[in-house]
Amino acid sequence: MPSYTPDNKLDLFFSTDLISQEVRSQLHPDVHLRPLASSDYHRGHLDVLSVLTVVSDPGESEWVAQFNRMKSAPSTYYPIVLVDKNSDKIIGAGCVFIERKFLRGLGSVGHIEDIAVDKNQQGKKLGLRIIQALTYVSENSGCYKTILNCSDANIPFYQKCGFERKENEMAKYA
Ligand code: ACO
Repeated sequence: MPSYTPDNKLDLFFSTDLISQEVRSQLHPDVHLRPLASSDYHRGHLDVLSVLTVVSDPGESEWVAQFNRMKSAPSTYYPIVLVDKNSDKIIGAGCVFIERKFLRGLGSVGHIEDIAVDKNQQGKKLGLRIIQALTYVSENSGCYKTILNCSDANIPFYQKCGFERKENEMAKYA
């Protein structure tokens, strides 16, 4: 009997209507795809993100405050997670945010950010499923393109996900 918390018992960031049923059906039966929930601090959200970069733990109340700040920008942020149904722990995460433009007939662009798969779960197509799920959100939100920045080492991964190399990234850190 799975011990994970079902979607209807969670305060989810956005409606599951934007979760691809096709991607859900391609996952291992022990893995559940859903929007981030306001109680996911306790399910190891920051632990998973720590495979990406240094993550400092702000504590639960600040984590929840950030969840609510992001959620108060309507139809903008779409954070998702993969949950291990046996442990109810998060094993993968990612986000797409929707940028609205004055260009392209008031078009929108989906920016994929912060993709992370637990170290022990990498190489099982979970990263691919996260990208497919986020691209689904982006395309079903009307975006004319979906883009992301990544290291040279991750280029082959994103190519396997159907992305192509385009232009350059510039950065200026504060
Ligand atoms: N180099 C070459 N191929 C790769 C790489 C790589 N670095 N990573 C994955 N692949 C290939 C896999 O072999 C697989 O190929 P196949 O279809 O021929 O079998 C395909 O890409 C899909 O791989 P997945 O199993 O879905 O990859 P995984 O679940 O391990 O997730 C990820 C990949 C997200 C990069 C993971 O390794 C990770 O979390 N890394 C650390 C954090 C990170 O770098 N995140 C991305 C930052 S960029 C951003 O967030 C926009």
